[in-house]
Amino acid sequence: MHINVTDQGGKRHRLEALEGFRVMEIIRDWGLDINAECGGACACATCHVYVADEWLDKLNAQEDEEVDMLDEAFMVEDNSRLSCQIIMSEELDGLEVSLAPGSEKERVAA
Ligand code: FES
Repeated sequence: MHINVTDQGGKRHRLEALEGFRVMEIIRDWGLDINAECGGACACATCHVYVADEWLDKLNAQEDEEVDMLDEAFMVEDNSRLSCQIIMSEELDGLEVSLAPGSEKERVAA
């Protein structure tokens, strides 16, 4: 099983994925630049991704808390989701997402 993730610089990565993991965890564990500050508690919106249109219907529905948290994210689009709220399953094999602006780790100025 795998997912395809386009990073903030436009580079596409094919990542192996395991069922039951949060998409945010897969992206983070493969070392891509995702802040995911709250660790998946739906409390930060720094795991914001855009989901390719053809996959939107296959995702689990959004809970109210995800909708509320997305309200605080930057540049929210109709296909915005919090990747910590998407749970990997067989159905999502091949899922296509892009990391949204603001999902990268904060850099400390030198
Ligand atoms: S990791 Fe914080 S909302 Fe997803």
